[in-house]
Amino acid sequence: MTQRLLRGRLLTFHREPQNGEDLSAYTYLEDGALLIENGIIQQAGPYAELSAKAVNVPVTDHRPHLMMAGFIDTHIHFPQVQVIASWGAQLLDWLNNYTFPEEIRFASDEHSTLMARALFDQLVDHGTTTAVAYCSVHKTSADAFFTEATRRNMRMIGGKVLMDRNAPDGLRDTSQSGYDDTKALIADWHGKGRNGYVITPRFAITSTPDQMRMAQALAREHPDCHIQTHLSENKDEIDYTKQLYPHARDYLDVYQSFGLLGQKTLLGHSIHLEAREISAIAETGAHPVFCPTSNLFLGSGLFDHKGLSMRGISNGIATDVGAGTSYSMLQTLNEGYKILQLQGMALHPLQAFHWATRGNACVLGLEDKIGSLDPGTEADIVVLNARSTPAMALRMDRVDSLAEELFVLQIMGDDRAIEEVYISGSPSKTVPKQEAASTRAQVTA
Ligand code: GUN
Ligand code: ZN
Repeated sequence: MTQRLLRGRLLTFHREPQNGEDLSAYTYLEDGALLIENGIIQQAGPYAELSAKAVNVPVTDHRPHLMMAGFIDTHIHFPQVQVIASWGAQLLDWLNNYTFPEEIRFASDEHSTLMARALFDQLVDHGTTTAVAYCSVHKTSADAFFTEATRRNMRMIGGKVLMDRNAPDGLRDTSQSGYDDTKALIADWHGKGRNGYVITPRFAITSTPDQMRMAQALAREHPDCHIQTHLSENKDEIDYTKQLYPHARDYLDVYQSFGLLGQKTLLGHSIHLEAREISAIAETGAHPVFCPTSNLFLGSGLFDHKGLSMRGISNGIATDVGAGTSYSMLQTLNEGYKILQLQGMALHPLQAFHWATRGNACVLGLEDKIGSLDPGTEADIVVLNARSTPAMALRMDRVDSLAEELFVLQIMGDDRAIEEVYISGSPSKTVPKQEAASTRAQVTA
């Protein structure tokens, strides 16, 4: 039995704060503690109380830093770690010119393994302890993803993309091979350790109706798996989708008519929605996923978080690396704040940090396992330092409330603000402050 007591300032959410004064939505302790045993949070409370009971338990003192649940990223592309920051294109050209050629490389077991290590290092160092990932079309990429997740004992959700048209040679499956590979991956990984499988038709443009039927069969046969896809990210994408599926009432209807909408469905982007689509999302309980840095980077548009929330829809928030420009959920909240400002909404920092933790856990239906510091949940914890850069320290000298500190972290913070990360109770931050190793021998001029 391994026990550990973490001491520090402690913040955890019980529900979404309605505003900055909604004190019962969260617990904040100036001198708090977490008692962790075998990867599970056993107790959370004042340090004086917990330390009196936990005699002879080793203490790690994180004061004056802030402990909260690890961040959850509800949409990221594993094979795009070397696509991030590719210049000059909007969605369809960006996919064809940069992304698809890169994803072909994940046919290689060796490359997939190397990149899985690189991805997970980035996630952990940015404070992300759970992510929902698109792998490439190749089964080998999903095997590498889950192998690495298992090695690190992280709660991760992933799936190989189903794509059988409108993609280059070497990056297409068939409806049958996509089905067979997905079945094998679910059998090998879903529910094993902390792994979950997400059935992943990439988007309407790259799947034939026959493949959508196969995705529907997979969803019926595995109702405990999540489903993820992309929806209404870009105007040209929407026009092309309507040409490819002329009988669909709208873009969402492609997925709805194949029975792919439900509470376990994640709809990346969901920007340019029609009234019927919004009603259908509300009725089915599916979840749009807001990807702020990506939506700005590709010039895709402004996500209507307020409008969708007012319809009772619960939205995820995510990086969408590699169209997204940062692995940091802090930077994701930063850009998200600005997109909502452009639409007349000032997201409160308490709401922002709830969103990246318990909010995203609720979207995934995993709030009994992750997203808070509640006793009985898994000890995935981030320790935040709001003075991690000189500019932040300067600003912090004029800060005198928790909300202000959170806002500094959200607007100015990145991986440097992540002091430590616990995965299943074990300290896991990998980056000593040194130059990152190159994955290739030499950069050509
Ligand atoms: N739509 C289909 N595939 C992708 C992808 O890889 N990234 C983004 N941003 N949108 C997509
Ligand atoms: Zn995406």
